[in-house]
Amino acid sequence: MQIAVVGSGYVGLVTGACFADLGHDVILVDNDQNKLNALRKGEVPIHERFLPELLDKHRGKRIKFSEDLQAATRASEVIFIAVGTPATESGDADMSYVESVAREISGAVDSYKVVVEKSTVPVYTNQWIQTIIRRNGAHPEQFDIVSNPEFLREGTGVTDFLYPDRIVVGVETERSAEVMKNVYGPLTGGWYYGRSDAVPRPDRAQTPPRLIITSAKSAELIKHASNAFLAMKISFINAVASICETVGANVQQVCEGIGTDSRIGPRFLNPGIGYGGSCFPKDLLAFRSVAKESGYDFRLLEEVIRINEEQRHRFLRKVRSVLWTLRGKRLGVLGLAFKGGTDDIRESPALLLVEELSREGCKVCVYDPAAMERAKEALGNGVEFATDGYQAAKGADAVLILTEWEEFANLDLQHLRSVVKYPIILDGRNLYDPAIMTEHGFSYYSVGRPAALCEETAVRATKKERA
Ligand code: UGA
Repeated sequence: MQIAVVGSGYVGLVTGACFADLGHDVILVDNDQNKLNALRKGEVPIHERFLPELLDKHRGKRIKFSEDLQAATRASEVIFIAVGTPATESGDADMSYVESVAREISGAVDSYKVVVEKSTVPVYTNQWIQTIIRRNGAHPEQFDIVSNPEFLREGTGVTDFLYPDRIVVGVETERSAEVMKNVYGPLTGGWYYGRSDAVPRPDRAQTPPRLIITSAKSAELIKHASNAFLAMKISFINAVASICETVGANVQQVCEGIGTDSRIGPRFLNPGIGYGGSCFPKDLLAFRSVAKESGYDFRLLEEVIRINEEQRHRFLRKVRSVLWTLRGKRLGVLGLAFKGGTDDIRESPALLLVEELSREGCKVCVYDPAAMERAKEALGNGVEFATDGYQAAKGADAVLILTEWEEFANLDLQHLRSVVKYPIILDGRNLYDPAIMTEHGFSYYSVGRPAALCEETAVRATKKERA
C-alpha cells in the first residue's frame, strides 16, 4: 500500500520505518527541511533500537522523504498524522499542529483517503479532524477518519510496533476498517513473523497480534486510559515503597508477592524516583482535563501525579539524610535520561534531581550512556560531564544511580569502590542486591528496601582520607 506518515518525531519515524519493513511504500512528511536533509543523508535523530537498520534498509526504496504534504496525500491511500500534541499551560493537549495538517490534507483529497490519527489526542479529535477536512472543501464520501493509538515505548519502539500485544483501530465505517485490516495484515496474518529478515522477536512477544476494532471515541480513550493506568501502577508501588521504608519491609518482596497474582501482573511495578518522559506526565494532565470537560472530576489522576512528584522529593530527602549537609558535597550521578535505553531527557526525574542538587550547592558530575548531548544543552555549565560512570564517581562523597540503564546494573564494583571518596551509593532504581553491595564495601540505600550499611569500610575510607 502507499502510505504517508506526517511528522518525523519518535512516533512518525518508527511508524514509517516499520510500515516499510511490512512491505508498504512510505512517504515520510515533515515541514522541517533540516530534519529531512539529515534523514536523507542517513542520519537518525533519535536513539531507538533497530531504527537505523530499518531506515538504511528502506531509504530511497520503500521510504521517501518529502515536505510536500499535499503531494504525499494525493499519492497515498492512507495518511497517518503523527505530529506533536504538546501540553499547554493548563495541561490540555495543544491540537494546533494536528489541525493545520488536517487543513492541508483537505485540499489534496482527490480520491478515497483514510486519515489516521496516530498522535496521542483527546476524545472527540476524530470528529474535529472530520469537520476541518470537510470545512475546507473535501467531500465527505471521499475520506474517513480513523483513530489508531500507538503503544510504543521509547527505546523499544520498533519491536513494540512489530510485536505488539494488540493493535487498536477506532473506525466509523466498514470501508475504513477494511483498509486498516490491510495496513496491518502482514502482522495480524502472521506473514511478517515467518520472514528470515524480520526484526528479532522480543522474549515476551505473542504472535500474531489481535486487531481490536472499536469506535473512534473508544480508541481515543483507550490510549489515555492505558497510559494513565500504567502511571497509576507506578505511583501505587511507589506509595507502597514509602510505607515499606517506614515499617522496615522490603518492596521487592512485596512486588513479588503481588505481581505473581495474574490479575495484577509483575510489569510496571518497579519503584523508583518517579515516572518521566514525553508521554505519562503530559498524557495524565491531558486525560484529567478531558475528564473535567466531560464533567467528571478524576481525582485519582491528581493523586497519581502528586505521588509521582513526591517520590523525587523523598529521594532528595534521603540524599540529605545520608550526607547530612549538601553544600559543597561532590556527587557522582549515573543517569540523566528519563529511563534506560533512550537519549530523551524530557520530564526526566533524573535531570530534575540533578538541577535540585546543584541548586542546593552540590558539585555534581554526571554521566549517561546516551543523553549527554541533550543534557549539556539543558544543564549548561552548572555541572561537570564525565566520559563514563567511573569518572563521574571519582572522588565522590556519594554515587547516585538515577536511570535504569543496563550498563549501571553491571558496574565493576571493585573499580567503583577504588575511585569514590566514600563508598556510599544511593540507588533510585533498585538495580542491585543490597547484600552484594555490602560485600563490595558499600553502604547502599535504595527505594522501599532497608538500607544496607557497611560500617567497617566506611571507617576504612575515612582512615584512607585522613592519611
Ligand atoms: C509510555 C508507554 O509505556 C507506552 O505504551 C506509550 O505508547 C508511550 O508512553 C506513549 O504514550 O507514547 P515511554 O514514555 O516510552 O512509554 O516509557 P515507559 O517505558 O512507559 O516508562 C515511563 C516512565 O516510567 C520512565 O520514567 C520509567 O523509568 C518509569 N517506570 C516505568 C517506573 O518508574 N517503573 C516501572 O515499573 C516502569
